[in-house]
Amino acid sequence: MSEESRGLRIDHYKKGSGVQSGSYREVAERMKELQRQQSMAVANMMKIRYKIVVMSSKGGVGKSLVTSSLASALALQGRTVGVLDADFHGPSIHKMFGIPTGYGMLARMDGTIDPVTVPPGVKIASLGLLVPRDDVALIWRGPIKASAIRELLAYVNWGPLDYLLVDLPPGTGDEPLTIVQSMPRLSGIILVTIPSDVSKSVVKRAVAFASKMKTPVIGIIENMSYYRCPHGDVIYIFGRGAAREIAEEYGIPFLGAIPLDPRIRECNDTGKVFISEYPDSEAAQVVRDIASKVVDMVENGKARVPEVRDEEE
Ligand SMILES: Nc1ncnc2c1ncn2[C@@H]1O[C@H](COP(=O)(O)OP(=O)(O)O)[C@@H](O)[C@H]1O
Ligand SMILES: [Mg+2]
Repeated sequence: MSEESRGLRIDHYKKGSGVQSGSYREVAERMKELQRQQSMAVANMMKIRYKIVVMSSKGGVGKSLVTSSLASALALQGRTVGVLDADFHGPSIHKMFGIPTGYGMLARMDGTIDPVTVPPGVKIASLGLLVPRDDVALIWRGPIKASAIRELLAYVNWGPLDYLLVDLPPGTGDEPLTIVQSMPRLSGIILVTIPSDVSKSVVKRAVAFASKMKTPVIGIIENMSYYRCPHGDVIYIFGRGAAREIAEEYGIPFLGAIPLDPRIRECNDTGKVFISEYPDSEAAQVVRDIASKVVDMVENGKARVPEVRDEEE
């Protein structure tokens, strides 16, 4: 693909400040554009069969690893899969699939944007493909982020897609809100946590978010759950059992525990797909097992909205 044809870059998002100021007519026009964007986003999302958002409590717990691994596992199980990286401040999905920052996305004359297809057949769309370099800090206020998310939801031409996985930034801020409001018939949220108490207490907020937004939760995954030494001993580096406890407390399915494996970090850093590189590893087996549970939950409509009483929040 030539440099020119991969022309959609970050400048595209600089138009319009997102701040509602100016004459009455200007504001009215912006509002109209916003409504148009929102209905385009909803219409585009309606074409996708199953939509899943991946949320975590804190950063660095392996949310992007889980998103990219699950997408790969679903693709290897014969599903057509896309990943939207909505973590604007730390987009990393493209790198986990070996695509350099600034690679670009193809912008077509009709205004649609083509995702980039990566092995094992996953389509990805990310702001990380549009920013020129990793050291560019995006200092965007909420309305601009919301607008950029809506544009990606509205204009990325995914083609026929069974699954779209959305990698969110940590927490329950603007981005999750925009995504949940712009994605009709969301299949549900997958929560990712590590076993530590801090992560556990924060992930409860994500459960409360799902409850408030009346969005189903597919289940909870514990990442970095344990480390199995070469001699077989198991060490619980970050504590033990947090995800299972949350699952029980809120009646959420526990999807699985992914072990710590230095080869995961290595693969992520070098842009290789872990489950393809080490298909026989314990972690790859766990990921495949989680993917099957997700398919069962989603395709059989089993995900439920968690019940969180107000005083628990
Ligand atoms: N189970 C694991 N074993 C080893 N390294 C992991 C594991 N899960 C994630 N990592 C590494 O930890 C770092 C953070 O993971 P990442 O998916 O980027 O987190 P997040 O998206 O939640 O910020 C990355 O370097 C990743 O390769
Ligand atoms: Mg991430």
